[in-house]
This record gives sequence, structure tokens and C-alpha cells, in this order.
Amino acid sequence: MGNNTVNTIMKDNMTTNNVVNTTTNTVTNTQRNSILSVKDLHVSFSTYGGTVNAVRGVSFDLKHGETLAIVGESGSGKSVSSKAVMGLLSKNASIPSGEIHYDGSNLLKLTDKEFSKIRGSKISMIFQDPMLSLNPVMKVGKQITEMLFLSGKIKKKDAIAKAAQLMKAVGIEDAEKRFHQYPFQFSGGMRQRIVIACALAGEPEILICDEPTTALDVSVQAQILDLISDIQKKRNLSVIFITHDLGVVAGIADRIAVMYAGKIVEIGTCDEIFYDPRHPYTIKLLAAMPDMDMDGSEELISIPGAPPDMLYPPKGDAFAARNDQALKIDFEKEPPMFPISETHFAATWLLHPYAPKVELPPSLQKRINKAKTESKKG
Ligand SMILES: Nc1ncnc2c1ncn2[C@@H]1O[C@H](COP(=O)(O)OP(=O)(O)O)[C@@H](O)[C@H]1O
Ligand SMILES: [Mg+2]
Repeated sequence: MGNNTVNTIMKDNMTTNNVVNTTTNTVTNTQRNSILSVKDLHVSFSTYGGTVNAVRGVSFDLKHGETLAIVGESGSGKSVSSKAVMGLLSKNASIPSGEIHYDGSNLLKLTDKEFSKIRGSKISMIFQDPMLSLNPVMKVGKQITEMLFLSGKIKKKDAIAKAAQLMKAVGIEDAEKRFHQYPFQFSGGMRQRIVIACALAGEPEILICDEPTTALDVSVQAQILDLISDIQKKRNLSVIFITHDLGVVAGIADRIAVMYAGKIVEIGTCDEIFYDPRHPYTIKLLAAMPDMDMDGSEELISIPGAPPDMLYPPKGDAFAARNDQALKIDFEKEPPMFPISETHFAATWLLHPYAPKVELPPSLQKRINKAKTESKKG
């Protein structure tokens, strides 16, 4: 793109400012039916090398009963954002600004004691490695009953019965016998089911799943995904599902937020992200996704380059350095969140009225066309 266009875009601040305001208003409107609302969250870590700017202004709403997926490469700030929601950040972390609203209060203003009442009972989290969440030397049944005791007054006998019920609910057969076994006596998938049972013990309203299937075999992965989506529906949970793998979220997410270098660069419904991606990073992620029925003639594209060092976050659009079609302005000025629909937003200068039109990679366009035709057929 020529310098003229760059200058026009850069001078066109009126348009940009209007766009930003529209986004903010939309956020306020959707907040009313949201169970959780994260606003302009910043998280940094002090390290020997300097300050790591891990999360740089993340905003999103989680609606009652929905599954919101947060997708992005390793290091993009997905875990740090969710740990902030859980109040589980490490000691070297600081939150220079931001708000996390849940049930009428800003979680970031709570005392440790107040937060611990919410953690586990209102908001629960499942991590990638079940072995790290479970105590290796405690029987699994006891671990679930401990969670029940933590989350409220319950008699021992009732707790045991409820723990066995939870084990059944997460698909563990022979629960009465397996109640008395240790984590090492379970397979990886079964262990993750125990972790899910523990997370459900307090009957939370929000469940955060951080790469819950990444450590599992593909076939087990599918079973655990089914289980989470089943539980989500049965209990009307609001779920944040974190993954680096876009392929995993297709069947389970209502909406998808794409994260890059500590920011959400695109957010929309599942259909909007898969069929109408706008940010160059989302487009590259989709193009790099393996296609189930590839006939071999298409080439699998991987995203060249590496994410930026968060000690020195770049100016402008952080993805510009890896985007072979980046505009000059991408290196200079941060793009605002442009609205595409009431539910779809993306932070890319390509959405500016004066930006050049870019085509999707042909293989991705072909796949989208095919998927659209198939969904029309039903
Ligand atoms: N305790 C910590 N100290 C310093 N840097 C950290 C710490 N935890 C996370 N980070 C950095 O924050 C960034 C985001 O990490 P994370 O949220 O774990 O990424 P992911 O998207 O893979 O979950 C990374 O650059 C990571 O190195
Ligand atoms: Mg992570």
C-alpha cells in the first residue's frame, strides 16, 4: 500500500475514534446479560530481564450459559488472563490496570479471603495436566470430598455419596470401587475426568478450561470435549475454553476470541470466525489448520516467524512482522477494534474504509465455500 493511503488512514482520526466508541458502547450493552466482564486487563511480570507485558488490554464478556473459546499460539497470554480471573497469578505479577466484574463486584478489588470464597465454588478451573491438579498420594474419592467440604457445610456421609455421583456424572464406571484408588491407577483421560469432578464439586457457575485436552491422545481428547460440552449444557455453565488449537473449538464454542501478543485481535461467533475471518492472524491460523478431507493437492501452510518478545512488545499491530501483506501503518499505529457485525470485531487496519482489499488464501477460500454449501444443504 502506498504512503498516500497510509497517511489518509492515519489522518482519518475522526473515523477511528468513532469506531472505538461504537465498540465500547456495544460492550456496555452486552454486559447486561453477562456473568463475567473483563475490561482493559493488563498483566505484567517483573523478571531479571525486565518487565514482561503478558496481557495488554484484554476486554471480553462471558454470557450466561455460553462457551467462549480463547485461541492463540503459546505465549499469547491466554493462561495469564484466566489466572487473573481466578486470582491465581504468581507473586511477580502485577495488574497495572483493568477490571474483572463478577456478580456485582470487581474481583481485582477483593481481599484474598473474599476471593477464596469465589474460587472453586463460583468460578472453577481445569488445567492442562491432570497430574498437577491432583494430589498423587491421596485417594481420588477423598480429593473430591475435600472439594465438597471446602465449598460448604456437608455431612461426611452425604459428601461421599455426592462424590460418587460426581464420578458417575463425569463418566467413571464402577465409581464405588474407583473412589478408593490413587491417581496413578487411572489413565490420563480418566484422571482428567477426576479433575473435572473436583472442579464441579462446588457447583460453580463459571468453568475455565485451560487446554484441558492438550496432554491427551486424540481419541481421548474427543471424549473429554464431549464430556465438557455435555456438562456445560446439563448444568447451564458458562465456560471459557482455552486452546492453541482452533480445530478443537469448532464443535464446542459459541464465540471465539483470538489472542495474539497479549491482546484479543478478533472476536466473533464461531461462524463469523470460521467463515468470515478478518484479522491476518486469524486468517493464517485458519489456513494452517489441517483439513480433514484434504485431497493432497492443497498445501498445508504454517505461520512463519515467532511471536514477539513480550519484554519489548512491538508498536502497531503486533502481528505485522509475520504478515507478508502488512501495511505501513501496521508497524506504526495500533489498530482499534473495528465492528463488522453486532457480535464480530477485529483489530486490523484492513477494516479501515481506505484499506486495500485482500483476498483470503485460495485453499482457505475453497474450504469456506465448501463448508458454507454443506451447511446450506443441512
Ligand atoms: N510467572 C511469570 N513470570 C514471567 N513471565 C511470565 C510468567 N507467567 C507467564 N509469563 C509470560 O507471559 C506470557 C503469556 O503467558 P501465558 O499466558 O502462559 O501464555 P499462553 O497463551 O500460552 O497460555 C508469556 O510470554 C510468558 O512467558
Ligand atoms: Mg497456557
